[in-house]
Amino acid sequence: MSTFSQKASSSASSQSTSEKRFSIEHLLSPEFSTNSDDGSDVIQGLTQPDKSLPSRYLYDDKGSQLFEQICELPEYYPTRTEAEILRQYADEVAQLTGACELVELGSGSSTKTRLLLDAYQRQGYPLHYSPIDVSAGILEDSARQLLADYPSLQIQGIVGTYEQALPTLAPAPLPTRMVSFLGSTLGNFNQRQCDAFFSLITTSLEAGDYFLLGIDLQKQKEVLEAAYNDSQGVTAAFNLNLLNHLNWRFGGNFDPVLWEHWTFYNQSQAQIETYLKCKRWHSVQLEGLDLTVEFERGEAIQTEISRKFDLQQMQSYLEAQGLPPARIWTDSKQWFGLLLCQVQPASSQL
Ligand code: AVJ
Repeated sequence: MSTFSQKASSSASSQSTSEKRFSIEHLLSPEFSTNSDDGSDVIQGLTQPDKSLPSRYLYDDKGSQLFEQICELPEYYPTRTEAEILRQYADEVAQLTGACELVELGSGSSTKTRLLLDAYQRQGYPLHYSPIDVSAGILEDSARQLLADYPSLQIQGIVGTYEQALPTLAPAPLPTRMVSFLGSTLGNFNQRQCDAFFSLITTSLEAGDYFLLGIDLQKQKEVLEAAYNDSQGVTAAFNLNLLNHLNWRFGGNFDPVLWEHWTFYNQSQAQIETYLKCKRWHSVQLEGLDLTVEFERGEAIQTEISRKFDLQQMQSYLEAQGLPPARIWTDSKQWFGLLLCQVQPASSQL
């Protein structure tokens, strides 16, 4: 059993009758602070000529809510396309992996997780779920709903970054483990971050474990740009909320009114690039980081890239990482891909 950290537990309400089936570890509190969440990444990003901010600051509790709203937008096709693939093939996933602990990275509201849990349940397998997310609020809410809907489900949640959480995973309570990384969140990583991420995955998993990856695929520019610049302005609000999050987290005085959402598809890099563009010259203080930054009119801070992948390239890349795909599924339009990979024994990673 992993530890139920009483001290770090955020609220008494998490100790309901379902307590024995639910534990949650908080790795983001200051006592656990590591350089993956001390703000050094913010300083780094804002003190360069081409300014940027790490995308994971988009996901405070408010940002996670806004992202859930994005997933419902008519223009934002990835969520429903991936869900469609999962609806069709979750049983195959469960049959291929056998009974396994499901670890989900960036679990958010865990909607798609239900499709997997249902499939494992149909196979008669015990259900063990370990969501990992930087937003405690959304993790606790969705865990509570899952516990209510799946009477035998056991949940061990971890609030933290992937770097913090993956190395702390307790030994799997079932014969194998499957780490799922859905929604094309991988698209937020540049190539260097992607390489680092996969080395974290392969060192945290054991040979024979599974890795389930959902990736958004390359397609027409118009479809892509509409998905990141929706007509209701939800994506704009999501992007601007990053500034509120930094204000709260690091004692900053960003004024969101002075910024606008700006996004486009960079065809040659095959990535959506999203920025906050400064409307007029001003400076911003982040007291918690001892940082003052000047911004010029028209200057842009990159807040997100969303890479769009090629299935074949991804397949070779995963093979080279020691994570060869055992199965690859797509939807009828080939807009989105789902890959079930298996960790190879170290000796065959040549
Ligand atoms: C959750 C990172 C996959 O890049 O499509 C949605 C986030 N940003 N709309 C994406 C997002 C703007 C999303 N990911």
